[in-house]
Amino acid sequence: MSDERPRISPVPRHVAMIMDGNGRWAKQRGLPRLAGHRAGTENIRNIVQAAVEQEVGYLTLYAFSTENWSRPDSEVQGLLRILAEVIERETPELDRNGVQLRHLGSMEGVPQDLADAINGALDFTRHNNRLILSVAFNYGGRAEIVEAVRRIVRAGIPPDAVDEETISRHLYTADIPDPDLIIRTAGEQRLSNYLIWQAAYAEYWFTPAYWPDFDKDVFYQALLDYSRRKRKFGMTEDQVS
Ligand code: IPE
Ligand code: IPE
Ligand code: MG
Repeated sequence: MSDERPRISPVPRHVAMIMDGNGRWAKQRGLPRLAGHRAGTENIRNIVQAAVEQEVGYLTLYAFSTENWSRPDSEVQGLLRILAEVIERETPELDRNGVQLRHLGSMEGVPQDLADAINGALDFTRHNNRLILSVAFNYGGRAEIVEAVRRIVRAGIPPDAVDEETISRHLYTADIPDPDLIIRTAGEQRLSNYLIWQAAYAEYWFTPAYWPDFDKDVFYQALLDYSRRKRKFGMTEDQVS
């Protein structure tokens, strides 16, 4: 896996992707939507490889939102089936590449065999640390915050002891740094309930490319653009230069 492109600096430590446009990619080709989802999952390997090459430490992929249950049942069932296939097919290769899989989201409503497959893959790769690959599946940012608040209350943490760090520690992303760069494909410019707490100071990057067409070159361009931005975190130009 050698890369001839120059190393980008600074590289975002955590890149979070909203993989959008599978349906439109398929429609453009006169194919069923599920063919688009299949093509989309094929693409994951390339982007994981690109992230490893550029030494991105954390890559997070939005695979299925809590809102996606509202799609027609045939599409939901197809998506769940494709996900199960991807886990089975890709886990050994991910493990060989030193990738640790993580799940962000809830297992509520997830069929038991799929939940077992996910937990098996998490367990299989838990010793790796070259890249932390989090898959946001059955994920919703607001639901995540509600769940965190419930856990804080249940733990009996006194109100005055609750600070931003307390909330962060009770999210699915407890030990994952906030995303530095959020990339969304397919031309939409919204978060769609993705990492809404963690995204507070992220940089955003949008491309018209549909997810199955989003290749290593486009990913590289996003990282390059990120490296040229100046993040100020509320400070003045002079303070950060
Ligand atoms: C993203 O592609 C994949 C999921 C949401 C699961 P879409 O299925 O949203 O594709 P479009 O937006 O309909 O093109
Ligand atoms: C966001 O895409 C969810 C995933 C990529 C999994 P959607 O296609 O579901 O988002 P909206 O509905 O266009 O906002
Ligand atoms: Mg979409």
